[in-house]
Formats: sequence, C-alpha cells, structure tokens
Amino acid sequence: MNATLDQMTAALNGCDQSSPFLLQNEGEYQAWRARKLALREQLAADRVFELDRHERLPESQLEQARLQIEAYNFMLFQSASELGKDEFLALNRQFGLDRLDSNLGADTDGVTSLRVVSDSDERAQYIPYTNRALNWHTDGYYNSRQRCIHAFALYCVNQAERGGGNCLFDHELMYILIRDRSPELLAALMAPDLMRIPPNIQDNRLIRAEEAGPVFSIHGGNGGLHMRYTSRPHNIVWKSDKRSERALNMVREILMNSEAVIDLRLQHRQGIICNNILHGRQAFHDPMQPPGRLIYRARYHDAIVIGGRDEPQSGDA
Ligand SMILES: [Fe+2]
Repeated sequence: MNATLDQMTAALNGCDQSSPFLLQNEGEYQAWRARKLALREQLAADRVFELDRHERLPESQLEQARLQIEAYNFMLFQSASELGKDEFLALNRQFGLDRLDSNLGADTDGVTSLRVVSDSDERAQYIPYTNRALNWHTDGYYNSRQRCIHAFALYCVNQAERGGGNCLFDHELMYILIRDRSPELLAALMAPDLMRIPPNIQDNRLIRAEEAGPVFSIHGGNGGLHMRYTSRPHNIVWKSDKRSERALNMVREILMNSEAVIDLRLQHRQGIICNNILHGRQAFHDPMQPPGRLIYRARYHDAIVIGGRDEPQSGDA
C-alpha cells in the first residue's frame, strides 16, 4: 500500500526501514499494534508513580514506567516534596530526556514557568501565559525540523483555584484509529506539504521563518512516530484538496468523540512525562492574589526511550 510514499519518506528521513509506521510494513504494524493495545488493556492510564525521598523514580519502578509510556505515551508522577527546576530536569533525564528546547518564553535554565503574566509582558500575546483555554495541539508544531519537539514534561507547583485541567490523547492511538479505518487518509496526513505555517514577524523582525510539514512523520533514527498538529484556525494553512480535508476531519472527529480522551487535572506536586502527545488545557480562574497557577514545562528534542529503541538522530522530520 502506497509504497512509493513510504519509500520516499523513509529515504528522506533515513529512518529504520522496519518501522511499523511505514504503510508498507503491514506485518510490523500489526505486531506493534497488538502489543500496544494489549498493554493499554493491562495498565491503567491514571496510575501515579511516587518519587522517592531523593525525588527520583526508584530504579525498581523504571521498567514499569516505561511500559506505561509504551501504552499511553505519558506517565503521571507525584513528588515527595516540592521539586525545584534542577530536580525536575534530573527526573526527566531518567527517561533519556536531555536536549532541552529553549523556546521564547523559557527561563535561563530552559524550563518554562507557565503562569499568567501581566499585560505589559510581551509573552502576554501567547495563550499559554494567559488563563485562556488551549485547544488540541502538539508542542512546537510550528518548529523547524531541526528543532522538532519529541517529548515534554509538566510539573504542577500551584493549581488554579478553578479549572486548568488538561486533556490528553495518545498520538500513536490516533495513528492506529486512522490507519485501521483508512490507510489512504493516513497517507494524506503524512504528506510533507499538508500544513504550512506562515512566518512569525514582529516589528519587522523575523521571529520564525515559514514552516511546512506533515501531521504524521517518522523519526529519522529509531523509526518512532512524531505528530504535528493544532486545531487553532489562525496562523496555519492546510492543504485544501478533498483527501486532505477528509483526513483532517477524521482527526477532528476522533478528538471530539473518542472515549480515549484522557482528562487530567494535575494536583499540587504532580506532573507528567510524555512523548509529544496531543493535549489541550481548560481555561482557569485564580483569585487576584498570588501565587496563582504555576506549571513548569520542559520540552525536549529527545524522545523517551522505550521498548529498546534508540533515541532519534538530529534532523528528524
Ligand atoms: Fe502544549
């Protein structure tokens, strides 16, 4: 099925030719799919992994945590006391996450403090720094290929008084649901010209060049799956042919109707470590006084190492 597109994609990325995400590899796909779905049957998505007194995940729990990530592409943890940013980063390194992406709003250590900022702060123009809802997206969908986000982690320092919960959807499950229904539409989602993101220019200064790319792509190194997506209608131009429209409508329909959407409201001292899954955020309300909702976020160019796969190489799609 669609071997030409597969071969082009694989050659372009230099990825593992046995990747289950290549449409030509039906046997590999079925084996991977069966294992993934069996793990999801066995494991509960809302399991909370407790950190030890050193704020590390105990070695004895690492294998279980990796299985959790293989099943759901995220794991939920609870720290023993409040994590500092250094401890947060050290925890993420236990999962092979090391190469931080330094986005516009990140602090000097590469961790972003997501909180409501004042109107005079230039970050106030970006929704993550307001109390407004964030619709479905994957992180860094507007990034260049060289700065592709493969994983991220969140840690709740302070909850909002009301709201601020997250919705999560495993991007690998999205792939399964679409490939099972229509390999043709899945191929449309892998087209390298499916989305175009106009450049970010402010005050005649180029903040980010124009980007184009597929929704689903395959890591250059380990043959894993990457997803770029946003349901925001602004600052993105989708290919408008019938097949692309049908494919994108299928994604939207699944996000609206699937029972696999996970609603999660991080409690104080809880966090998630995940590959770059689909996620969103509810609007929230805080009283006028500080501290207000505060979430640490770290984004990575590494993917979480699971199932014996190596990390992806640089320059992944
Ligand atoms: Fe996000």
